[in-house]
Amino acid sequence: MRIEELRNSFIEYFRQNSHAQITGAPLIPENDPTVLFTTAGMHPLVPYLMGEKHPSGKRLCNWQKCVRTGDIDEVGDSQHLTFFEMLGNWSLGDYFKEEAVRMSHEFLTSKNWLSLDGEKLFFTVFEGDADCPRDEETAGIWKECGVREDHILFLPKKDNWWGPAGKTGPCGPDTEMFYDTLLPKCSTHCSPGCPCGKYVEIWNDVFMQFNKTPDKKFELLKVKNVDTGMGLERTAAVLNGYSSVYETEKYVPLLRVIEDISGKKYGINTEETRAMRIITDHMRSAFFIIGDELGVKPSNLDQGYIVRRLVRRAMRYSMMIGIEKGLGEMLADLIIETNPVYEELGRKKEFIVEALTEEEQRFRHCLNKGMTEFSRIIPNIQKGGNDKIPGRIAFRLYDTYGFPLEMTEELAREKGFGVDVEGFEKAYKKHQEISRAGSEVRFKGGLADASEQTKKLHTATHLLHEALRKVLGKHVAQKGSNITPERLRFDFSHPKPMTEEEVKKVEKIVNEAIEENFDVVEEMMSVEEAKEKGAVALFTDKYSEKVKVYSIGGFSKEVCGGPHVEKTGELGKFKILKEQSSSSGVRRIKAVLE
Ligand code: SER
Repeated sequence: MRIEELRNSFIEYFRQNSHAQITGAPLIPENDPTVLFTTAGMHPLVPYLMGEKHPSGKRLCNWQKCVRTGDIDEVGDSQHLTFFEMLGNWSLGDYFKEEAVRMSHEFLTSKNWLSLDGEKLFFTVFEGDADCPRDEETAGIWKECGVREDHILFLPKKDNWWGPAGKTGPCGPDTEMFYDTLLPKCSTHCSPGCPCGKYVEIWNDVFMQFNKTPDKKFELLKVKNVDTGMGLERTAAVLNGYSSVYETEKYVPLLRVIEDISGKKYGINTEETRAMRIITDHMRSAFFIIGDELGVKPSNLDQGYIVRRLVRRAMRYSMMIGIEKGLGEMLADLIIETNPVYEELGRKKEFIVEALTEEEQRFRHCLNKGMTEFSRIIPNIQKGGNDKIPGRIAFRLYDTYGFPLEMTEELAREKGFGVDVEGFEKAYKKHQEISRAGSEVRFKGGLADASEQTKKLHTATHLLHEALRKVLGKHVAQKGSNITPERLRFDFSHPKPMTEEEVKKVEKIVNEAIEENFDVVEEMMSVEEAKEKGAVALFTDKYSEKVKVYSIGGFSKEVCGGPHVEKTGELGKFKILKEQSSSSGVRRIKAVLE
């Protein structure tokens, strides 16, 4: 079964089971300061899992493009990917364990659907602890579906609980579905959950009934939800009997080109195979991030920094196998052709290729010199009896040769050395205003927080957006939004810095709207109606019947998932702290409510 067939099959199955298909969200999250990228299909749905009403109803399904940066170093093995797609179905307070498990089982095993061999499927459920009892119920449902007892395992929280790691938000016990590749066990303890690759996790049903509070308590949510995620590439691989996701049709054409250009063969030499996997994964990821609806170019900041790391790491590995040619241009058409459902890639091709080429040119002439410099450093450190590259040297590699810290760490590791990261950061902070540490913490996962203060800042963001359109013109469009309980950050299209006068004017308009104490009203309507009524939106929704529109008095109207405060009078005084450049043609405002 081809990947596109699997995608359609999944959607078809859940539509037949009364789920509305909704559009996936952009890779760069809006209004969620806790992560740099959308990491799962549930991510954009957090407000609804927390109890907001979803315009498309209580049963939803979709596919979602995801980026996970926590595993970049694992990429190169057979299963880990930075960019991947997730198929998902959701119950927002509708069905719970019984129906979720039965549907998963039917879709996986029925002759009409995936028809996977039950003998090769294994299921794990939560073994229970002080927060939540042992999930006998789910185990019982699997058994009723015909699963043998020795194919069901009880595992602890670290395996069978899904939610924002260490953060607040919706979470709960899950049941995970594994496919046995029939590879030999890596040890006598090898069983589903073992990362060796024998058992591939293909699907996860999360029973989201808790909210993890900031003081680490698990409180019951208003309603019980189900959040599932099936790995599209992994499932396609097991359906076809492939031992790796790289054998699917999303990767094979890219690998062929890399083989042609490098003259090396995939699958022969371990190091070269690993290099080829890294190049394809990283370049696809960079392509999707730059080409996202809210895409960003390589930079030293947040998502831009991740793209920079990916491209530069891909370049280093391409050099290792003898490729000198630009990777972006070389792979662009293939990436577009192999991803027909993401029309934004084709639309933004020129922009993406230009950004990649610029980045490759910027780095190319440094890379060789930097590698020479690096090989000089190592013997010196050895002589000094040190086992770590000092921070100031790692910083010099970064500053002069453009080596992302992680690349230096990786090069050092290959030689059996470490890097003094603290020293690097000290040197970095001295030279730059923004530290990498800030961003690093953020992409470890986590969820939008819906505290009162965040809600207020979210409503203030709508006022700001409209005020900017009034003062600067209708070309102002949201390019990104990031809200923490302390401040809002809003990126928007505008070709030049704002004058002091314009900043003052915007501030004044927002504060007047606050003083008016407008009602914030939420309405559901069709995309068409929202457009007709002049609601501001990205209008990327293609499938959902209806969208949610928030109106603030007669002042602003915007398509948005919420949540918001009820009246603008609650906001306090709005103050712009900073207006600065974000990237070319995009300005950034940081503001607070006092
Ligand atoms: N959120 C869960 C996961 O990422 C299920 O969708 O696995």
